[in-house]
Amino acid sequence: METRSRTVSGMRPTGPLHLGHYFGVLKNWIALQESSHAYFFVADWHALTSDFADTSALRRNIAEMVKDWAGAGLDPEKCVIFRQSAVKEHGELSLLLSMITPVSWLVRNPTYKEQQQQISNKDLGNAGFLCYPVLMAADILMYKPRGVPVGEDQLPHLELTREIARRFNSFYGETFPEPQALLTPAAKCPGLDGRKMSKSYGNGIFLSDSFVDIEAKVRGMFTDQARMRRSDPGNPDVCNLFPYHVLLTEAPAREDIRQGCTTAALGCVECKRIFLANLRAFLEPLQERRIALERRQDTVEDILAAGNKRARVFAEGTLAQAREKMGL
Ligand code: TRP
Repeated sequence: METRSRTVSGMRPTGPLHLGHYFGVLKNWIALQESSHAYFFVADWHALTSDFADTSALRRNIAEMVKDWAGAGLDPEKCVIFRQSAVKEHGELSLLLSMITPVSWLVRNPTYKEQQQQISNKDLGNAGFLCYPVLMAADILMYKPRGVPVGEDQLPHLELTREIARRFNSFYGETFPEPQALLTPAAKCPGLDGRKMSKSYGNGIFLSDSFVDIEAKVRGMFTDQARMRRSDPGNPDVCNLFPYHVLLTEAPAREDIRQGCTTAALGCVECKRIFLANLRAFLEPLQERRIALERRQDTVEDILAAGNKRARVFAEGTLAQAREKMGL
């Protein structure tokens, strides 16, 4: 008897993963590969919805992202790691779901409206971008998961997925259970400059960064900007570094840091030194796993080929059912 539930999630291959991805997403995925039947995929079709004009980096980004995943601890023996575009059933289910999805649901999607307004360097007037949530609904409903681990920014998409599932079920009979969002416990992970950590802001610490680069980045990192002199007491609650101690420094040592900072016993330079040591201890095993993978030839392709096959087996079953229910 099957007792573990299924979970599914995807990530767009847009570049190297940073600490925000690790603490905001990957950590959760790594736990879920133990506790559920987890499907994790490279959302390469989703990457094309906005980055269609220049696709020269796409292949490399896919390979690098899978290496980042495996380095972080996603284990192809414990979960299904696959590539969206290699499981064409995602495309077909997306087409079927598009038949029952009102365009009005898509245009009023908050994420859609926001990105249309805020992203000015790309033309997002294409149909593929409007239909992004339909494809995402197909990705999810395909595996009939109980949970979908996502960040808060994905909640509108997940709500649409549930609405599409309800509509399908109401037309054709109970087919798709409504999936729940598994929100990653909020991990505050600001960028080096205090803004959100993001590749496009150039303020990230990447999982594959060399320690030479990391040292330079941390040295330039903002702390409490009101703390001008070493003898001024600092405030960890407005410091951009302290949230990292919350993620990477054990509670007793972290309390010492808070105490030291607020009494000016501990300076920012020393505080950064402690952080760097902890970051290094955290990243080293990830990078070692990554390097081991790079030494073996063809491994990313092997991982994906095996995962694609496993995903396809499940996807074919769902598709057969969806076609049948829709009268095809
Ligand atoms: N939209 C998600 C993101 O940008 C990626 C994604 C595509 C996804 N399909 C999915 C996430 C299905 C969860 C489930 O992060």
